[in-house]
Amino acid sequence: MGLSAPAIGARKVRNGHDPLVMVTAYDAPGARVASDAGADLILVGDSVAMVVLGYDDTLQVTVDDMVHHTAAVARAEPDCHIVGDLPWMSYHVSAEETVRNAARLMRAGAHSVKLEGGRKRLPMVERIIAAEIPVMGHIGLTPQSVHAMGGFKVQGKQAEQARKLIQAAKSLAHAGCYAIVLEGVPVRVAEAVTEAVEIPTIGIGAGMHCDGQVLVYHDLLGIEDRFTPKFVRRYADLKTASTDAVRAYAADVRSGAFPSHDEAYHMVDAEADELLGLYGSD
Ligand code: KIV
Repeated sequence: MGLSAPAIGARKVRNGHDPLVMVTAYDAPGARVASDAGADLILVGDSVAMVVLGYDDTLQVTVDDMVHHTAAVARAEPDCHIVGDLPWMSYHVSAEETVRNAARLMRAGAHSVKLEGGRKRLPMVERIIAAEIPVMGHIGLTPQSVHAMGGFKVQGKQAEQARKLIQAAKSLAHAGCYAIVLEGVPVRVAEAVTEAVEIPTIGIGAGMHCDGQVLVYHDLLGIEDRFTPKFVRRYADLKTASTDAVRAYAADVRSGAFPSHDEAYHMVDAEADELLGLYGSD
């Protein structure tokens, strides 16, 4: 299972710890890659909507979708802490529904859940934690608020907005969150938030002063190549490698080079001869 939520909650860089490494994964092969590579946390993110399911934003995925993908990741038994992402509208209606939805992700194999938003989410955060489920916060550019924000825009560029983010982080930490994702905020704001709280901040598009970093699997591997945000570093170009491989396969099928003799199953000669006897050669 990797690190527990309380162990992650103690991982402040300023206290001498290494930065936390989180990566998204949505299925068993991705979970095995993350685990073999030594990631501390796997986030089964609602980004699955955009990088796997073909939607334009994250609003389309449901709790059923997230349970399906969380269970696939958990079945790989990665040596990582698995964070299940609560999708839009799964923690907005009532406390009862929120706790039930968080529990569904836990029963699917998550070790904690993540939800987006600051102070207005505090009642739901408290109810989930009261049900013994660890919660990771997520503030700044919160993709589930894409329409309210007027697009995927960097948040906290004005001092007053930044002050509100620092307050939100303090409130989430006070409510019992064990870590906070900081997405799409200026470096100076991420630094101030990280200084202000005793729990680790995990940044994405938030610069180098956070207590950890998270990237989307398909972005860092270059599987998703239609749009590259400024903060993404590509460590591979698997879209090109995959396209080249499938193109080579197609060419081999069309030329007859695939499959070869060794890539097929064969009968022993006596059985093949008998078959020929049964059906003849015409
Ligand atoms: O869903 C996701 O992948 C996320 C990360 C971008 C933090 O929430």
